[in-house]
Amino acid sequence: MAPTQDALYAELDLALSWSERDLPERERTKHVHRLHPYLGKFIPQLVEILLGRYFRPGQHVLDPFAGSGTTLVQALESGFDATGVDVAAFNCLLMDVKTRSYNPFVIEQELRAVHSRVGETSSDRPSAYVRRWFAPQAARELLGFRALIDEYEHADVLRVVLARAARSARRTTHFDLEFPRQPQLEPYWCHKHRRECRPVETAAQFLRRYTLDTLARLKEFSRVRARGSVASVIHGDVRAERLPGRYDGMLTSPPYPGLIDYHEQHRYAYELLGLDDRRELEVGAAAAGNSRAALAAYSDGIVDVLLNARPALRRGAPIVIVVNDRRELYPEILERAGLRLEERLRRHVNRRTGRRAGEYFEDVLVAR
Ligand SMILES: C[S@@+](CC[C@H](N)C(=O)[O-])C[C@H]1O[C@@H](n2cnc3c(N)ncnc32)[C@H](O)[C@@H]1O
Repeated sequence: MAPTQDALYAELDLALSWSERDLPERERTKHVHRLHPYLGKFIPQLVEILLGRYFRPGQHVLDPFAGSGTTLVQALESGFDATGVDVAAFNCLLMDVKTRSYNPFVIEQELRAVHSRVGETSSDRPSAYVRRWFAPQAARELLGFRALIDEYEHADVLRVVLARAARSARRTTHFDLEFPRQPQLEPYWCHKHRRECRPVETAAQFLRRYTLDTLARLKEFSRVRARGSVASVIHGDVRAERLPGRYDGMLTSPPYPGLIDYHEQHRYAYELLGLDDRRELEVGAAAAGNSRAALAAYSDGIVDVLLNARPALRRGAPIVIVVNDRRELYPEILERAGLRLEERLRRHVNRRTGRRAGEYFEDVLVAR
């Protein structure tokens, strides 16, 4: 029998659960949190509360699976230092662009100059991937933008704009931007817009819109970030990477086995920007599946991460892990890593996306 709403709510930490009305998408994707979409991130307001509960301002937070950098950005807003590690090159690029400090005049001038040049084309031959996933005009515009990038000081910002525009300009249906399998070449019935839609033909409109949107978001974040707080990004396999700092605790949402392929979801960025693909090093890689051997390899991987981070963490530091541990892997993982589970909080996750059914809950595990 389904639990009653009262029984469900009694188990929840309500301060960590928000409805769409309490926390609309606009707030969850404020300033640089939406420089580029990212599947599987946690929301900044959750990070804000957890930082406030388990850390003191000025402390240094480690996120070993930093993804799109939610922990880092929120740490900078709330007056903490932060270090984020990720094995996926695009995620590191994105985090770096989100957390860097910019000279407001130079960035404004550069992005406006690039905005006026969108539509310039290049003689670069499109790769097989580009020919398959983009209409010919969209490909010409994307490659034309790519050819401009190295002329500018803020080339990495432009790389993120290019990736975001490429994501929108792929020949996919509007409702399947996350996991498209085949290019969509014909008009189709769109579940999202409830009408017939057509695959995208051009990319210039996205390049223009995202260039200005990125500028506005970087400026907005520069107004709210705490002065003196710093973030660093490390690109590597956090099971083995030497962690250079001294951290006051960990706040992270790890990958979960067989769920999301963190390289494949940004394939267009790897293809267009020539980024280093290290997907075989992902812990719990989706391609490895959910076999017993894959789950065991996942648990070993997370134990290795915790053991590798241990010498860099202050004694008694809080280890705060946000995860939907439906296979109950974490009690044993924490024990094997020599940690004591102190709290297990539940939160209700508001999933707005219409095509995913059912209620969804997440745990916040606090260990030391
Ligand atoms: C659930 S996501 C983190 C999302 C993040 N909390 C955010 O808000 O954007 C997990 C991340 O772990 C990274 N990852 C997987 N295996 C890794 C490894 N061996 N070393 C470092 N990062 C890894 C993935 O690339 C992915 O970005």
